This record gives sequence, C-alpha cells and structure tokens, in this order.
Amino acid sequence: MKSWHVAAPVMAGLLLGAALTFAPAVSQAEDSATIVHERQQLMKDFGSAMKTIGGYLQGGIGTTDDVAAAAGVIAEGAASLPDHFPAGTSMDDVMDPKTGAKPVIWEQWDQFVTDSQTLEARATAVQELAMAMDDAALGDAFQALGNDGCGSCHKTFREKLE
Ligand code: HEC
Repeated sequence: MKSWHVAAPVMAGLLLGAALTFAPAVSQAEDSATIVHERQQLMKDFGSAMKTIGGYLQGGIGTTDDVAAAAGVIAEGAASLPDHFPAGTSMDDVMDPKTGAKPVIWEQWDQFVTDSQTLEARATAVQELAMAMDDAALGDAFQALGNDGCGSCHKTFREKLE
C-alpha cells in the first residue's frame, strides 16, 4: 500500500506536466495567427497611407493636413514594427495564415530594426514638410520614404505573397 502513496503524487505530477506542455503549444498557434494578421494589417495601413500621400502629390487629392496625418500613421507604426515580428513567426514557422516574413529577418535582426528606424525617419520628414506646406520638397521626401523606407526592407526581408 505504501508504494501507492508515493506513486499518486508522481502520477499527478506527470499528468500536470502533460497539461502544461500541451496548453502553450495550442495558444502559441493562435498567437502566431493573430500576430501575422495584425502585422499584415499594419502593412496594409502603410499602403493606404502611401496612397493618400501619393494622391495628394500626383493627383492633387486632399490637403497637406491629410499628408501629414498619413505620414504620422506610418511613423507611429514604424516605431512598433519590430514588435510585430517575434521569433518563431517566419514563413517557415507559420503556415496558416500565409506569411511573407523571411527567416533572414531573425538572422539579420539588427538590420531589420535599422530598416524600421529608417522608415520612421523618412515618414517623419514627410510629416514635417507637409506641416510646413513645403510642396516643393515633398515629392523627393515621398520618394525617399517609398524607396529607403518601404522598399529596402522589402527587398531583403519580405517574400511577396500572390
Ligand atoms: C522593416 C521592414 C519593413 C518595412 C520598413 C516595411 N515593410 Fe511592408 N512588409 C514587411 C514584411 C516582413 C512583410 C511580410 C509580412 C507578413 O506577411 O507577415 C511586409 C508586407 C507588406 C505588405 C503585404 C501585407 C499583406 O497583407 O500580406 C504590404 C502591402 C506592405 N508590406 C507595405 C509596406 C509599405 C507601404 C511600407 C512603407 C510605408 C512598408 N511595407 C514598410 C517588412 C517591412
């Protein structure tokens, strides 16, 4: 009988251990889906902000206030961009939903953070020029935002999804 008294807590411990290792695996799968959805939404917001700025510069749509607000959305999003890319959420780790986050992000993490800071700086420059209503300088700043800000990070770190 004595051996049973010893075995019961051990069994309980084993069962608890099993429950504990199982639970994080499930919630982690849910978490990575949410993380991918949220960062793709952030990128979509960047895309529509770029359209707003381009619409003003190329089509005369809206005002410099709209441009400043759109650039502000990008600058703010850029500041938290790396937080949307925790380790273990690359395109090799997460299958559903499909993600275009290349594993090289985590191999060259410092560069990825630097690219986020470049985006923030370029967006802030556009925001300030828009607030100063400096239409003459806005065009070049917008191009720099697209090329150095969005383009250079995508070139290295993003796989375009169909
Ligand atoms: C620091 C790197 C980085 C910067 C800067 C960056 N992106 Fe991205 N972008 C990514 C990565 C990585 C993905 C793939 C994300 C995924 O699928 O999980 C992506 C995906 C996208 C997508 C596709 C989203 C989807 O629904 O699949 C769009 C659109 C996009 N980016 C627009 C932009 C625009 C516009 C800018 C500049 C204003 C920008 N990005 C700046 C890294 C970046």
